[in-house]
Amino acid sequence: MPGDKSISHRALILAACAIGKTKINGLLESEDVNATRICLQKLGVQITKENGKSQNNHKDKAITQKENGCYYVFGAGIDALQEPKDILDCGNSGTSARLLAGLIASRKFNAVINGDKSLRQRPMDRLFKYLKPLGIQPRLQRKKFLPLSLGGIQTPLPIKCKLQSPSAQIKSALLLFALAAQGVSKISEPFPSRDHSERMLLLFKANLKIEKDEQNNEKNITKINTPNTNTNRKLIIKGGKALIAPEVINIPGDISSAAFFILAATICKNSEILLRNVGVNPTRMGFVQTLIEMGADIHISHIKNTKSNQSQHEEALEPTADITIKSAQLNGVTVPAERAASMIDEYPALAMAAASANGKTVMMGLEELRIKESDRIEAIKKGLEKCSLHCEQEKDTLTIVGAELGQKNIKLKEKNISINAYGDHRIAMSFITLGLALSANDEKNIIIVDSAEAIATSFPDFIQRMQKIGANVREIQ
Ligand code: S3P
Repeated sequence: MPGDKSISHRALILAACAIGKTKINGLLESEDVNATRICLQKLGVQITKENGKSQNNHKDKAITQKENGCYYVFGAGIDALQEPKDILDCGNSGTSARLLAGLIASRKFNAVINGDKSLRQRPMDRLFKYLKPLGIQPRLQRKKFLPLSLGGIQTPLPIKCKLQSPSAQIKSALLLFALAAQGVSKISEPFPSRDHSERMLLLFKANLKIEKDEQNNEKNITKINTPNTNTNRKLIIKGGKALIAPEVINIPGDISSAAFFILAATICKNSEILLRNVGVNPTRMGFVQTLIEMGADIHISHIKNTKSNQSQHEEALEPTADITIKSAQLNGVTVPAERAASMIDEYPALAMAAASANGKTVMMGLEELRIKESDRIEAIKKGLEKCSLHCEQEKDTLTIVGAELGQKNIKLKEKNISINAYGDHRIAMSFITLGLALSANDEKNIIIVDSAEAIATSFPDFIQRMQKIGANVREIQ
């Protein structure tokens, strides 16, 4: 699988802020991560690529981390970052924009951050509402959007706040700001979101303490402890301590990219796929957990980096595992709102699983989906309706009545159904995967998905990898 996108962004940014050289193995080479890398280079950080070295030792059928890059980042500390001569263009990447804004908010110099049409419609004020009380005064387009101009702070003050939405981007941006703040910042997180930043900050020896108030209320059916949806966590970080570059960071395969292969193997008959070295961080396992509840045949093995008695060092590592998936008939389930953060990018894929299942699937607590790369609730609903699949939306709940794909013969009304993916990579990959199952059901069923070029933001060789495992999919101009 391609390297994890969230972890790749963070590895580049923290390595750029640290003292010393960091080798990053398996960095995702996609448009989003390239945007972060180029912005950091504009901030004066030297980043080089090791030439021609493949990470792939397995020559068998398994899908592994092959084309991911090996990079060296030469950090000289946060204070060595320089005023960029040019606009910092984050392209389509919300993670680049939010994380870099958090970092630059503590700098004395000024910078302008911009993005593509989709990113310019996504709110940035959700970060600045926590920073404005500390005197940070960004100039934002229409009060909350990119482009934004920022910087010029002499003395960054520590943050004391309680997060109001389960956003890892906002949490991470605030942690980056807090690294340079003069004093102790306390960020409390009532709903757990992905914790890659916290793990990586520990790896870089930041002065970070994590206080958890834990009572596990989710059943553990994935072998990986799924996140405790009731966990109240407090992140206590003392600013001013230099980050120390670890020698090497190994980026695991991206569970959010793996989700499309897990979906494909589950809903296409007679399939079996083995995915190697995928990140199985508990804060990202909601999709796998939900599919298992629906009856999917998913086996997790070779789990690494999870110890019951975690020391600080072990807590810093990202758990990985191999995942084997076989075709299965799914049944509809109700997915609770508390699970949303642990599968926030996987709802489009889950919607396709739900559309193939027996019975009704209800997904609750989806309000964050409206402000992703597209309004994903709308995009899912419109696409499924085009395929004559039943989907209802009420406020932040999506209900899908499954078409029993494995048992019934589904014939699409028109010969070629065109799906609008609204320039959103995950919507495009989800409908392509549904198309595979529909065409396996009846070869006359053909789905044409637009915006396929958007897939390059997270998974540049998605189509080639699908073709390699026998998927009947091709690009048309
Ligand atoms: C991400 C966090 C999520 C996710 C996005 C990547 C990150 O966004 O949707 O694709 O890397 O922190 P939010 O934290 O805003 O929910």
